[in-house]
Amino acid sequence: MDFSIKAFDTKNTLAAAKTGCLAVAVFENKKLSAAAQALDANGAISAALKSGDISGKPGSTLLLRGVAGVTAARVLLVGMGADETVTEKSFASAVSATLKVFGTLGSNDAIIAFPLDSVKERDANWALRALVLGASEAEFRTDGQKSKKDPAISGVRKIVVAAPNGAAAGTIGKTALTQAAAIANGMNLTRELGNLSPNVCTPTFLANTARKLAEDYGFDIEVLERKQLEALKMGSFLSVAKGSDEAPKFIVLKHNGGKSKDAPVVLVGKGITFDTGGISLKPGPGMDEMKYDMCGAGSVLGTFRAIGEMGLKLNVVGIVAACENMPSGRASKPGDIVTAMNGTTIEILNTDAEGRLILCDALSYAERFKPAAVVDIATLTGACIVALGHHTSGLFTRDDAAHDALATELLDAGKQAGDVAWRFPLGEIYNDQLKSNFADLANIGTPGAASITAACFLENFTRKYTWAHLDIAGTAWKSGANKGATGRPVPLLTTFLMNRV
Ligand code: BES
Ligand code: MN
Ligand code: ZN
Repeated sequence: MDFSIKAFDTKNTLAAAKTGCLAVAVFENKKLSAAAQALDANGAISAALKSGDISGKPGSTLLLRGVAGVTAARVLLVGMGADETVTEKSFASAVSATLKVFGTLGSNDAIIAFPLDSVKERDANWALRALVLGASEAEFRTDGQKSKKDPAISGVRKIVVAAPNGAAAGTIGKTALTQAAAIANGMNLTRELGNLSPNVCTPTFLANTARKLAEDYGFDIEVLERKQLEALKMGSFLSVAKGSDEAPKFIVLKHNGGKSKDAPVVLVGKGITFDTGGISLKPGPGMDEMKYDMCGAGSVLGTFRAIGEMGLKLNVVGIVAACENMPSGRASKPGDIVTAMNGTTIEILNTDAEGRLILCDALSYAERFKPAAVVDIATLTGACIVALGHHTSGLFTRDDAAHDALATELLDAGKQAGDVAWRFPLGEIYNDQLKSNFADLANIGTPGAASITAACFLENFTRKYTWAHLDIAGTAWKSGANKGATGRPVPLLTTFLMNRV
């Protein structure tokens, strides 16, 4: 979808605009938005409202053709709810209803003249971003590996957004538009990587994707191979990787957008390209969805695409630890004890708690960047879905002042981006659940608080810097008829980084 912004005024009126379709908002109780009023010189729109053909409820639509006094071929009335102060939710349903109708039109261009500056507690740039991200989600395809592609996208391909209340097009928009497009493209990369079958999206494939990104956006890149990981003594990561015939890859991307002396933000992604559980094998039904166990890694790569495209003025390091978790004669057994990069010994009581085993070494590796902050992103625990469902990512940090500040930054970025997270507690009492009689740490906790004990495990490896952990087990993909990766938490992460500039 191609977006641009244009200002309409008394000389350059909406009514005289040449386009296939003009979408304007109407409200319940037969109220018209300012843009709808501007098209109502002949009373056709108020008549349509009076007739009861459109309720004005969020997401209701009515397509009119040949409205007298309007140059556009069609006028699409879109309901935005009861109130002229629109809520986020009603704006979002209006956007998705509009895009649905646009997809069925025999026209390839349209103007959207919505009250962008009337969304409660949001500004016009937010509304613009909601439009761009909504369109990008609507046009995302999942037919990349089908021999016959789904029908081509028809309908509207070019959207002009009317600047609100006659504001000059330059005052909102241009940067918001490029930023939104960058986030949308980043999310699409994350979605694509997540959806790809696990025989294609291997650790090697992730490494090649990262190399391509580095080429496209000028990132520094290093991909560490098994030999180098052995030299670094990443015994924990390698214990997971050794059960698979696929070579592990440890990917380090650097976006040097800030001053050379500025400490970077480090993003660390869990890149298990397939999680069978290992010798602690998972049950069969639904196991295909464990191809999504690399979505943390996918979100790091997607966020890099977004910040690369934006040319974000910040130093960011991205680390992806990628391997498969497979059962085999070489796989770890329950009871095995391994030594992590930082010397911590770990008793592997359950080979299915592998995410923390690869992340702990990546978190030790992150120390060398003397980071301003480290955020790891992982589909870490099924228990996180029990706690938060599929709406909210889990956020975990220590609770001193520096970490409270980092948590606030991440939570706020999530709210701003419509990609929300919620904070959980950590601490000694939970950490005690990870005690082992034979090693420094067990890789699973005693029963209860499984998402927290998983985060506590990681916490042990992050004491040299400010750190937060995002558990995206519930938010990274959708199951069921619309199975597919969501592209989350790219909006949260990108917004968090943008706010740091
Ligand atoms: N990748 C899974 C977590 C997961 C499961 C995410 C289902 C999304 C949906 C992770 O590696 C795992 O298997 N975790 C175990 C931990 C347990 C053994 C302590 C879990 O959550 O069951
Ligand atoms: Mn697992
Ligand atoms: Zn896993």
